[in-house]
Order: sequence, then structure tokens, then C-alpha cells
Amino acid sequence: MTFSKTYDKFVLLKKGKIQDREMGKAKMGIVINHSENIFLLQTRSNSYAFGIDDQGLVRHLYWGKRINEVEDFELPVLTEVSTNDPVYEITREEFPVYGSLRYKEHCLKVTFADGVREVVYEYVGYRIENGESCEELILELKDRHYALKMELHYKVYEAYDLMERFIVLHNASGETMEVEQLQSGQFHIPYENLNFSNVHGHWGAEQQRFVQKVSYGKIVIENRRGISSHNHNPYFILDRDATETSGDVYFGALRQSGNFSGVVEQTPYGGTLVQMGLNAHDFCLELKAGEHFASPAILCGYSDCGFETMSHRLHRFANDFILSEGFRPVLYNSWEATEFGVTCEEQKKLAKKAKELGAELFVVDDGWFGERNGIDNGLGDWYVNEKKFPNGIDELIREVKSLGMMFGIWVEPEMVNPPTKLFAEHPDWIYHFDTRTSDTSRGQYVLDLTKAEVKSFLYEMLDNLLSGHEIDYIKWDANRPISQTNLHRDLWYRHIEAVYDIVKALKKKHPHVLFEACASGGGRIDYGILGIFDDFWTSDNTDAYDRLTIQDSYSYIYPIKAMRAWVTDCPNFISARMIPLKFRFHSAMMGSLGIGCNVLKFTEEDTAMAKEMIREYKEIRPIVQEGIFYRLENPSANDYAVYEYQKEEKGLIFAFLAQGKIGHRSTTVRFRGLEADAVYTVLLENGELKKSGAYLMQHGLELRLNGDYASTLIRFAKCETGRA
Ligand code: GLA
Repeated sequence: MTFSKTYDKFVLLKKGKIQDREMGKAKMGIVINHSENIFLLQTRSNSYAFGIDDQGLVRHLYWGKRINEVEDFELPVLTEVSTNDPVYEITREEFPVYGSLRYKEHCLKVTFADGVREVVYEYVGYRIENGESCEELILELKDRHYALKMELHYKVYEAYDLMERFIVLHNASGETMEVEQLQSGQFHIPYENLNFSNVHGHWGAEQQRFVQKVSYGKIVIENRRGISSHNHNPYFILDRDATETSGDVYFGALRQSGNFSGVVEQTPYGGTLVQMGLNAHDFCLELKAGEHFASPAILCGYSDCGFETMSHRLHRFANDFILSEGFRPVLYNSWEATEFGVTCEEQKKLAKKAKELGAELFVVDDGWFGERNGIDNGLGDWYVNEKKFPNGIDELIREVKSLGMMFGIWVEPEMVNPPTKLFAEHPDWIYHFDTRTSDTSRGQYVLDLTKAEVKSFLYEMLDNLLSGHEIDYIKWDANRPISQTNLHRDLWYRHIEAVYDIVKALKKKHPHVLFEACASGGGRIDYGILGIFDDFWTSDNTDAYDRLTIQDSYSYIYPIKAMRAWVTDCPNFISARMIPLKFRFHSAMMGSLGIGCNVLKFTEEDTAMAKEMIREYKEIRPIVQEGIFYRLENPSANDYAVYEYQKEEKGLIFAFLAQGKIGHRSTTVRFRGLEADAVYTVLLENGELKKSGAYLMQHGLELRLNGDYASTLIRFAKCETGRA
């Protein structure tokens, strides 16, 4: 059964339950105890509760495994422990604001026109709206003195076991207010000594998962670069010694690119709090009279059965709600083959060979435009380089189309190189301070996208490119962080909003075009850009072994369909490692497959293997890109990496062994998610087996890979006829 079918069932179920609730017997969705002012948000297996106390404070009560009865919850009367432990410090607030006797992390700090820097809110009321597949509770607060309205939004995706939280501010006064801090929500986790995990990394080493113990003090993860970065990623995972399949896991992913900050703190009063939202670093948003501002949303949830369930919920939500429909094509990208030395003739040859192998989309990368022969020139001059394409780029496009492939092209629109015509004409379009010299990085400046004329220029340039040529795919790169900004401290937010706006407008006009988000490799992987863009370029590190680590960490939060993975040449340009083509293919087939080799140098043997692998990938693509993904445990002393994918009644397993430490040690592959009583045909490289789901899941299959960089693909399917 597909997810969408399951989901449909739940919509019906949900409708029924909503009626029940209105009759006062409700147990699903949003449940309210009016006499106690307590709100209970119910998903299939989780509950989230908070209430409004007699002081008007919005106080958190519970987040975790489902509790059915709203009547169970109560708001204890707050008492001060001592004058040094004011009630605001002790109580668990849903939306702590800066002001009063609060010294803890706050979600909102505002300076009003008269210089007052304290928010004092009161509860106004609530409303419930029905969104797409969710119910939304909106809690309305307002400042006691100033005309600032604050709304706390909670979208309850009952069937997905997820919630989304965000804040909307409305300046109903006649004067400007300055918002200096806005976090999308505060979470309270009713445990201490949790494990916090996220990723660290840098160029060529994105998505390096780390786990650290939470104790007293604070853990801060953030980005200050404007472009999302390779360092920390905007999400939190907190667990109580969970495994893939057991234990409590609390998680949240911020739907925002660029700057963000997140704080995890084990408080002196018991429990752990988490906040995530816009980074207050160098931030100030002018909220003018009458204006609204919505914080980015946090997509969040709780699993009482480990990381696997967390990933499944997020992947499923991303596939159903965020990502554009359709499978991602097998692409060929010429970057590693030619770098800047692009010529029409060679690109045509590469395209022909890529088609022969089975590629569906040919992407010409950097180097096709302006005077772009290296990193120091060209960005901003988005005209076709006549020396490289004497008859225009359409000659290549025609060739690619006549071969029956789609055509894609690389751009880096947010940037400009100093020697270009664009910079000569508009030196003031870059981020700069008049009295300072702007830094170049990779030989380029960042265009100030908060300027309306720059934003329009970029939209028109890209619109002309898409309208003038038959382009199906844009790889949008961004190869440096922002510096020297401008005088407005909301630019960190506005810049990325401009990127979103441009791509949304382009997609409206050119709905068939897919967009890949790249920033020096995987520097733009986040839930803000996902959905506006269709793919992530996961890393410039295309070493098939390094990729296994990157892909594994990526899969905790992000959906497989958006994970672009290429097969490239050996020795790999980063690692200098030699890895067999089969392993390289299997590693890249774990996501949306791409080929980045100089295929013109392929031997007959390489060609035959590549054809076969691409053929097989197309067969398994629905399972890989839209199936359920499992990180399987490896019980062997050898470092096997084993992953399962499953869709409807079919599935597959990729197993890798980079280097056996103990040659004869095998691993046991214990399948996940099968029907215990069903019989499955399992296709191994050396034969076929028929086993029950129970056997495959509990006993498992023994798998031994030999030699360095060994890999295998096992496929399985449920037999309708049982063992017959
Ligand atoms: C970045 C990208 C690469 C490639 C180059 C081109 O590094 O991550 O994939 O497009 O730019 O300059």
C-alpha cells in the first residue's frame, strides 16, 4: 500500500474523529478543555499539551507518547522558589519573550518606537483553521501596552505524526518596531542527560554526523554565513539512548535557509529546552506600521521507537507535501569531465555517450558563459561564450534534444566577478559598505538581492534564459558566503527570501523546469529551500566511500529523492582513491543517480557495466526515490554498511564493505518492514531464495562480501503465490 493511500484512509478517519470531537468526545487533532484553558494536540501516536494560566502565561505541559484524556492535564499553581529563582525561570513557557524577570533564552525581543525593550503579552483567544491535511491551532496574544499582536501557530498533521510551529507578528501600531530576535518556537523535553545529534562539516565533507551528551550549560548550533553552509544544519535531534528501532527521539527541522540558530539547554530546574529560529546575530527586522512577519516553521515530532521512525515520518512528509511530484531523471553532468574547458563539440560527444549509457538529462555545468575560463571571471555576464559555442548554445541543446534527452544548465546568479560587464555597469549592486573594501572569495562578490533592481535583473536574466532556450533543469550554485552586507540588518533573511521568490516566480512561468540547489556542493541542504528547489547537490565529494557517510547522515532528516549522487572517475579528485565502478554505481544509486565521469574515456567493459547499472537503476527508481528507507544494523565486526528500501511489495538492499578487517567475517542482514507471514523471493547475485518475512526479519540472511570496496544489490518481492 502506498503512503498516499494510507493517508487517504486517515483523512476519512480524521473527518470522523473531528465530528466526534465537536460533540465533546474528541480524541484526535486539537482537543481543548475550555474550563481549564488547556490545549491538547493529538497525532496518531503523540500528544503535545499546553495551557493558559490565570496570569495569561502560555505554559507548556507535555510532549511525548500519546495520552488520550485532556482532563488529565492541569496547570499547577506557580510559586517562586526564591527571589533568585523567579517563576518565569522555572515555568516551562511555550513562547518566552524578553522582559520581566526572565533571564533564560527567549523567543522574541522587540524594541518599540519609544525605546522600550520589553514585551509583556496577554492571551486574547484562539482559532482553529483547517489547512491542507492538517488542523491548525492559532493562539492569539497581544502586548498589554503596544499594538503588537503575536500568534503562535501549531499545525497538527495527525496522520503524519508531525507538527509545524511558527510565530506571526503583526504591528498594528502606527510606528515601526524593531524585532531583534525571533525564534520559531520553544520546546521542552521532559528528560535530562539527553543525546544531541546534528552534523558538522566543511566543503567536501558535509553531513558528518556527531552525537554529544547534553548536560548543564548550552549547546548552540548556528549559521552566520547567509548561504546555508556546510557546517551545522538547521535541525535538532535529541534522544534517550535511542537506536534505529528503539527509544525516545525528539526532533525538529527548521524550514529556513541561510542564517539560523538553535540552542539546547538542560535547565537548572529539570528538563531540557530547545529553541530554533532566525539567528539574532547581526539581525534586526524593522516591522513597519501595519506589517506582518511570519517566522520560519519548525517541522517537529517525537518517536518512541528510534531514529528510523523519525526519518520515515520526515521522508514521507517531504515526499507528500514538499517535493515536486515525479521521479528524478538520471542525469549526466560534465563538470568533473571538462571543468571550465567547455566546448560545444566535446559537450556533444559527451551527450551522445551519456545517452548511449542511458542518461535522461544532460547538464552543462560551469564555463559556458561570459569570459568564464576559471573562477575569476564571467559570473554576472550571462551570455553564451562565442568561442566555446560559435553557433550559440542551441546547437548543443538541439543535439541533446535530438538524442531524446532533457537539457540542463549551471548558473550562479547571486554572484558577480569583478572583471565582468555587469560589475562595471553596477558596482553598487554588490553587498558593500561605502567606506570599506568588499572581500572577494573564489574571486567573486555577492549581489545585494535585497535591492529590488538586482532581484528583477536576476529574474529577467533567468526568465530570458528559460524562455529563449529549451532548458529543463537549472543547477543553481552559490560558492561563497556573504560579507560586508549593507546597512540593513534584516538582509540575512531578505537575501534568501529573494532567492526563494525568484525561483518560485520562474517555476510559475516555467513549471516543467527542475531546480537543483547547490552551494559549493552540499552547502544548501535544508528544509527551507526543499520544495522550492527539487534536488540537493549533496557534496562535491564524489568519492563513493566518503559518500556513504554523507548519505547516511543526510538520510536521518532529508528525503532520498532530493539526494543527488554521481558516479565519477577514479582516482577521485578529492580522495585519490581507486574504487571499482560497481561500488561507485551502487553508492550513487542510493539516491537520485547522476553520472559525472568523463564517459569518453570509458572502456568497453565500463560502458557495458554503466549501461547495465543505469538500466537496473531505472527499474528500481520508484523504490529508491519514493520508497521507505531503512538504515540496517550491522552486527559484524567488519564495517558493513547496509540499507534497505521498500515500496509496496517490492524492495532492495544495498550492502557495502570498503575493507574487510577480518576477511571471513560475514554480516547478518535482518530485513525490516516485511509482512511476517508473507513469502518473499530474494534475488541475490548468485541465486534466488524463497523465505518468509518473519525469517528474513528475525533470522536474517548471512552476507559475506570479499575484497576491498565490495558491494552488492539484493532485490526482493512478495510472492503472491506463497512458496509455490
Ligand atoms: C561548485 C559546485 C560544483 C561545480 C562547480 C563549478 O563547486 O559544487 O558541482 O558546479 O561549483 O564551478
